[in-house]
Amino acid sequence: MKIAVFVSGGGTNLQAIIDNTKDGILKDIEIALVLSSSKDAYALERAANNGIKSVVVSKKDFDSIEAWDEAVLAAVEESGAELIVLAGYLSLMGPKVVSKYSNRIINIHPALIPSFCGAGMYGIRPHQAALAKGVKVSGATVHFVNENYDEGPILLQKAIDVLPDDTPESLQKRIMENCEWKILPQAIRLIADGKVVIENNICHIR
Ligand code: GRF
Repeated sequence: MKIAVFVSGGGTNLQAIIDNTKDGILKDIEIALVLSSSKDAYALERAANNGIKSVVVSKKDFDSIEAWDEAVLAAVEESGAELIVLAGYLSLMGPKVVSKYSNRIINIHPALIPSFCGAGMYGIRPHQAALAKGVKVSGATVHFVNENYDEGPILLQKAIDVLPDDTPESLQKRIMENCEWKILPQAIRLIADGKVVIENNICHIR
């Protein structure tokens, strides 16, 4: 199966996917395209270092949301990807892409949805909010994507304990290493194997 991975920043989740295609659970998966919302994303270097085609499609370079949405759609269609994986991608998906790739877009969020998610909850902020609330576990969620932030059916979640001396940065690091880099490749595996069924907005793993 070919996939497209969408990024905006460092791309450690992209790296986890790349590593699994080389020597892990995604050996039959091809990353056909890395699409970045920013030309400065380090994720683009990770793609180049691994011979993966990449493209920058920035909302600010287009006159309208419609034109940007069309450009994203065209890039994905041209790549032949059957699944779009949002791996630290910060733009809300456009309506054309969402409808064309209905139930074929997943996102990784660094908290246990429905906690600490939605507009503005990216980067370090979910971890700051988790510590401010005093939760005793946090983690990551892979979910399908619709036109709203962090709202589609939940596919996988993994939790870790919050430690008494955690800072937002230490919590972020442990959640990336122990949760995000594991469940995002696992989610791609499950979808590639046809094991995921969505009924009434609920994901079932067969
Ligand atoms: C990750 O925490 C991811 O869950 C969130 O944005 C961050 C991206 O990190 N959506 P990276 O670019 O994969 O290193």
